Amino acid sequence: MEQIVVNGSESQVVVDDSNLLQKKISAIRVGGPGKLQVIADFDGTLTKYWIDGCRGQGSHNVVQQEDPEFNDKRQKLYEYYHPLEFDPTIPLDEKTKLMEEWWGKTHALLIEGGVTYNGIQNSVAKARIAFRDGVTELLELLEEKGVPVLIFSAGLADIIEEVLKQKVHRSFKNVRVVSNRMVFDENGHLQSFKGKTIHVLNKNEHALDMAAPLHDHCDDVKGLGDEKYALKKRTNVLLLGDHIGDLGMSNGLDYETRISVGFLNDRVEDSLECYRKAFDILYLNDASMHGVLKLATHLC
Ligand code: TMP
Repeated sequence: MEQIVVNGSESQVVVDDSNLLQKKISAIRVGGPGKLQVIADFDGTLTKYWIDGCRGQGSHNVVQQEDPEFNDKRQKLYEYYHPLEFDPTIPLDEKTKLMEEWWGKTHALLIEGGVTYNGIQNSVAKARIAFRDGVTELLELLEEKGVPVLIFSAGLADIIEEVLKQKVHRSFKNVRVVSNRMVFDENGHLQSFKGKTIHVLNKNEHALDMAAPLHDHCDDVKGLGDEKYALKKRTNVLLLGDHIGDLGMSNGLDYETRISVGFLNDRVEDSLECYRKAFDILYLNDASMHGVLKLATHLC
């Protein structure tokens, strides 16, 4: 195992098999940017896990409803279901039912308790959420090179897009958010959610949809209808995630070479062995995105 200290800080990067990584890097470089796509999780991957000593908020926690009773109810659901999400003793089929239950109840509370588009903008403005250093530069580089980025999340698409707008101050024509998308009525009130719910355990199923050319279903994000972003033809993947389950985001894609980059944010001791085997490159201690930026520069 090769272990390199980057940035002179406590952040560390762990590469379990550097020969294999080197081979993958060479293969992707040969293919060039025209064959590459990036698939990234949002919470805890593109965003910082810790902000000023406190946990950064996820896209779900950012939403503040006007009636605090509904925020409390969602928080209670979080306290009940979140430990179950990470409980290794619950069989997968049972856990899937529990996650469907959690997402169903949360979405119902968001509709019942009222959420407006303006409310989302205000919630994001006040939220404790920040991109890892280097994320903006990474998205800019990938845009310049014409490499599509799929942000794939079991969170809330509208929040993720608002965070991009407010924290990065610009839009990217190569970025598409695949997540739970709100439908607002003519007065800007949340009415329903679009399509099938994406929760942590069915991200893989949705990966199959995204393998279709983007122009088949890109009504939400302009610019991605361009044939050059057609994902099926891009058989090299740079995948970024913070859960082992995030590796499933590329399922359904018939990829040639995939480099997976993991961020192990919490309980490092417990999960290091498993994460370092699962990801080609593993960042510890809430590292910046600068290492990935360097890698992407090399790959494109
Ligand atoms: P992801 O961003 O890694 O795809 O996962 C979404 C996270 O959202 C997941 O870890 C659970 C969390 N979550 C909440 O914090 N509050 C909620 O109400 C729900 C349904 C999920």
